[in-house]
Amino acid sequence: MKAKKMIPLTIGSLLGLVVILALMGTAGVATWEYTNSDAFCTEACHDVHPENAFAHKASQHAEVACVECHVGRIPTFPQMVRKTGHMSHLWAVIFGYERPLTAPSLPVARESCEGCHTTRPHRHNSIRVKRHFASNARNTETKVIVPVRTNGRVFHGGQSEGIDEHTRIAVRFVASDPLKQNIPWVEVTRADGTVVVYEDPSARLDAAEISAADKHTMECKDCHNLAGHPVRSPEQLIDELMADGTLDPRLPYVKARAVELLNEDFDDAAEAHRLVREAWARYGEEFPDLKDEYPDAWERSRESLDDQQEMMAGLLRRNQFAAADISWRSFPDNSGHTNSPGCFRCHNGRHQTSEGDLLPVGCTECHGIPIVTTRDRIGGDLMDLTDMRLPRSHAAQDFIFRHDELAEEENAGCDTCHGRIAFGTNNRTFCANSGCHDNSWPGFGPRVEVQAWLEEPLLRAGP
Ligand code: HEC
Ligand code: HEC
Ligand code: HEC
Ligand code: HEC
Ligand code: HEC
Ligand code: HEC
Repeated sequence: MKAKKMIPLTIGSLLGLVVILALMGTAGVATWEYTNSDAFCTEACHDVHPENAFAHKASQHAEVACVECHVGRIPTFPQMVRKTGHMSHLWAVIFGYERPLTAPSLPVARESCEGCHTTRPHRHNSIRVKRHFASNARNTETKVIVPVRTNGRVFHGGQSEGIDEHTRIAVRFVASDPLKQNIPWVEVTRADGTVVVYEDPSARLDAAEISAADKHTMECKDCHNLAGHPVRSPEQLIDELMADGTLDPRLPYVKARAVELLNEDFDDAAEAHRLVREAWARYGEEFPDLKDEYPDAWERSRESLDDQQEMMAGLLRRNQFAAADISWRSFPDNSGHTNSPGCFRCHNGRHQTSEGDLLPVGCTECHGIPIVTTRDRIGGDLMDLTDMRLPRSHAAQDFIFRHDELAEEENAGCDTCHGRIAFGTNNRTFCANSGCHDNSWPGFGPRVEVQAWLEEPLLRAGP
């Protein structure tokens, strides 16, 4: 009898159990999915990193979820284990977290990048065309054309590994700050097993400090640190908008005015809108004739004033991140060397072996001579150099630091290949290349023995 009664009970409880399990399962899956969403990462703990959310939407990885990079493209169970590591962030919610967050608190998995790209992603060299607009009435456009040797040096008989070399062979380094901008020690284990250490004598770390320090193995994220959420300087942002026509380059001083605006401080979205409104009004007063001079540009701008306001206010926020102590400067870009040292954290003329061998530092180790032009065509001269025999003088490790002295030596013969020698920045001769001489590259030089380089821009300014 008892057994008979048991059967319906068991079926009932089994069914109940199934329903409960199904509910729990659904809730579990829903929770799991929610913790994988960008919304969870950016909003769950009261708006933790709004700047990343903004920048992520504008990135090439906009459709790649935060967790795909910050947890990795790995199977679900290892993912669960890895995520529990992120539980430590709960403490941050209670006790507060640093703003902006630094990467150690949000590690990027090696499996993420290499799950979509490969371990050898730099398969070819490519030509990058950077469009810059001047802060003058005409917003004069300059194109800087840089043939980037991502895949290595293929001309002049040289065949170097290129950028993949950093991740295919082991490069380890010590950084003395959380953003990894100061790198006093680098070690490379080359394919043949030779280990070479390069140190920056001006950074003054002693042997004990170096052996005690964390050694980071170089990965994709050490150059592409902004891949998931690129942050641009006001200059770069406005250049991009003018290049794609969003801001009309025919409107006088529009570059200068827009950059000025993006450098303003503000507290909230309402104030951002007010700043934009006022700036547009001032602009209209300053140039009352715009309407007649540039009828369509002005009309278009006027019609879309609301959109423009929305856009500029959005940009203001994207750039300032609505917090006084955080701006685009808090996010250095390590994939070049324009606004922060980037490649020049190591390739700067200071890092050398104990025998004084320099880590490669010539400008043409990484790209061809920059071609700077305000015209709509490229002169052939610089391209011609690409497949020309490279003279022996150029192979000296510190050639770039001495080339101006060499050029001034009697019968130097530089002109046979480079044409008339006249230093400056007007782009009329090889030595007047503003891509080289009109900049002070953060982090570059000094070649340690030469103190004169210390505080100075790279090369002389002005013709
Ligand atoms: C889910 C797949 C996925 C993951 C994960 C991923 N990427 Fe990408 N990445 C892409 C795709 C697809 C593109 C091309 C986007 C386009 O052109 O619109 C791209 C573009 C890029 C570019 C720009 C290429 C260019 O032409 O300028 C870089 C650099 C890059 N990824 C680096 C990384 C790094 C570093 C990581 C890891 C931190 C990473 N990616 C993770 C899919 C991914
Ligand atoms: C030593 C620095 C460095 C490392 C390490 C590095 N890259 Fe790059 N990568 C660059 C530079 C420089 C470029 C070209 C300029 C740019 O895109 O800004 C580039 C370009 C790219 C591109 C665009 C395609 C191309 O050839 O121009 C992709 C995709 C990319 N990298 C992915 C990766 C991935 C994935 C890893 C890790 C396996 C990685 N990179 C490691 C510096 C690096
Ligand atoms: C394509 C890969 C990728 C995606 C997608 C991505 N990130 Fe990142 N993130 C990175 C890399 C690379 C770093 C730099 C790591 C380093 O320097 O060690 C980083 C660093 C960070 C940092 C610390 C430094 C900083 O810039 O503030 C935060 C916070 C962060 N990411 C949040 C997010 C959030 C939130 C999302 C989604 C909205 C996201 N990330 C999406 C690759 C990605
Ligand atoms: C952490 C230090 C470090 C940073 C940052 C770094 N590199 Fe390197 N790079 C090295 C080391 C180490 C080598 C290998 C030198 C050797 O083999 O002796 C190397 C080699 C190279 C080479 C090959 C040179 C040759 O003659 O074969 C190129 C090209 C290069 N790097 C480009 C870049 C670019 C572009 C960047 C910035 C996006 C960059 N590197 C950032 C450490 C660094
Ligand atoms: C270690 C590698 C490396 C060295 C050495 C190097 N560059 Fe670059 N340079 C880069 C990379 C990477 C970029 C970025 C390309 C991109 O953004 O796509 C770049 C970009 C540039 C640009 C374009 C900037 C822009 O946005 O208009 C100029 C100009 C330039 N470099 C000049 C120089 C000069 C001059 C030197 C020598 C003092 C030099 N570079 C040395 C890697 C290097
Ligand atoms: C036989 C022809 C020839 C002669 C003579 C010559 N050069 Fe060059 N030079 C080149 C070539 C080729 C390049 C590489 C261009 C490239 O890679 O795109 C170059 C590159 C350079 C660069 C950029 C190098 C770097 O590492 O960034 C400088 C600076 C330079 N030359 C200065 C000089 C000076 C100064 C002299 C005279 C002492 C001189 N050259 C004599 C052919 C020559």
